Amino acid sequence: MNSIKPLTNRAAWKALAAHQKKIKGRHLRQLFAADPKRGERLTVEAAGVFLDYSKNRVTGETLRLLLQLAKESGLRRRIDAMFTGDKINLTENRAVLHVALRAPKTAKILVDGKNVVPEVHAVLDKMGKFADHVRGGGWKGHTGKRIKNVVNIGIGGSDLGPVMAYEALKHYSRRDMTFRFVSNVDGSDFVEAVHDLNPAETLFIVSSKTFTTLETMTNAESARAWLLKGLGGRVKAVAKHFVAVSTNAEKVAAFGIDTANMFGFWDWVGGRYSMDSAIGLSTMLAVGPKRFRALLDGFHQMDEHFRTAPFEKNLPVLMGLISIWYNDFFDAQTVAVLPYENYLKRFPAYLQQLTMESNGKHVTLEGKRVNYETSPIYWGEPGTNGQHSFYQLIHQGTRLVPCDFIAFAHALTPLGRHHDILMANVFAQTEALAFGKTSEQVRAEGAAGLLVPHRVFEGNRPSNTILADRLTPEVLGKLVALYEHSVFTQGAIWNINPFDQWGVELGKALAQRIMPELESKATPKLTHDSSTNNLIRRYRKLTRG
Ligand code: F6P
Repeated sequence: MNSIKPLTNRAAWKALAAHQKKIKGRHLRQLFAADPKRGERLTVEAAGVFLDYSKNRVTGETLRLLLQLAKESGLRRRIDAMFTGDKINLTENRAVLHVALRAPKTAKILVDGKNVVPEVHAVLDKMGKFADHVRGGGWKGHTGKRIKNVVNIGIGGSDLGPVMAYEALKHYSRRDMTFRFVSNVDGSDFVEAVHDLNPAETLFIVSSKTFTTLETMTNAESARAWLLKGLGGRVKAVAKHFVAVSTNAEKVAAFGIDTANMFGFWDWVGGRYSMDSAIGLSTMLAVGPKRFRALLDGFHQMDEHFRTAPFEKNLPVLMGLISIWYNDFFDAQTVAVLPYENYLKRFPAYLQQLTMESNGKHVTLEGKRVNYETSPIYWGEPGTNGQHSFYQLIHQGTRLVPCDFIAFAHALTPLGRHHDILMANVFAQTEALAFGKTSEQVRAEGAAGLLVPHRVFEGNRPSNTILADRLTPEVLGKLVALYEHSVFTQGAIWNINPFDQWGVELGKALAQRIMPELESKATPKLTHDSSTNNLIRRYRKLTRG
């Protein structure tokens, strides 16, 4: 198994801790002044994605030690283990092969001695045929009308990827079709999603890896009832208006969906890594099979870069290491992800599951409590909106918030000066964060007295800038894979399992216990703590009298 030393005993870790003490006071102004080429040197490009990491509080020595840490942590071995289908998800005894979802037809990736790539392509072909059929109007609803509305029902990884991708690629989507996404068990989500839809023209995709998730199954039942009500209660109608994406054929059949209309995937695809599996069916229906393949190709290009590039030129590795630097040595608690591309408005929400469900762990692979911090909190909003909201804290607050700025050379919808203005803001923000404004500069601008400290920007706020040509399906794939592998890098160094999610189970189990206590006619005997008991009693009184 694992022969590496505990993280805090590794030589590079200790050296980084000592090194941090030496350089923590060093300002980005000094680092840039000492090296006029720093802004050109500390950059790397792969598969058309450019990363400028020069505005980070790192020196050559920091990078050397971080790279050494990656080496001492066995990162190379772990990457190889993932790509070759080893069961690296130890607690669930599963391989972790989202990279197989975007592997070319000719690739060979074995799980339990069986090449999984042909199955991946068989499902892709089936999805493609189905998508063409629906988009071309050949697939008719129960009353003979063509499908105009697609509603994806799913939650977590079975929702966030599809919504994010739909929003990100809306520019390329069929504008004569309506796409909606229902996730929350709060009934208003479903009611609002279908309020203006005609059931005769609506297709539901029930997306659930397990096909047991409470929220999804509750919404799917309500969708079936809504459909049957709208189509005069004809049960036969379900077949023309429901398809499923799942790994669980038995449950799909039990729900009443013909398994011929089921699109499968496999237990070696984690929910939060599944947007490029059949879970992406809504994406394919929106943008078409060809563009979906381009998305996969983008993922694959970044996979290959991650798998083969030396660590010092490896985008995901560098981003993962830099994030560890702030998280574990500067006590930074969060990372802000700031896309300057409105189509990426759901990208931060998508990343929240990817990063925090993966690396929000408190024990090592060997089950020992970690004595260091694991995943930071990822959050964000598109720029420039965030600038008029929370950026105040990033510029002048007391917390260190490393930022990822994401921008594109070309707008998808060019409009007058808009794009230049947008991009000027990206560059201005990273410059302002890094270099700030001194009290001397503030005074020279005419401010005096009390106003001076209020107008000082300390600077030394770190950021990455990620720049690509334009937001195409291919580039979206590269971007998502970049973060997937950055998360992998972090998890490998922290020696945790990024691929399970036991932390979601307790709340689920307790909700199952509380549900009958809310719904029972007779007054239930409550045995929770006094707060929970009291809240349940109060809710019952307000709703049942
Ligand atoms: O509860 C968390 C979770 O298991 C996620 O990991 C997953 O993406 C989501 O629920 C949905 O699960 P499923 O696709 O099985 O409905």
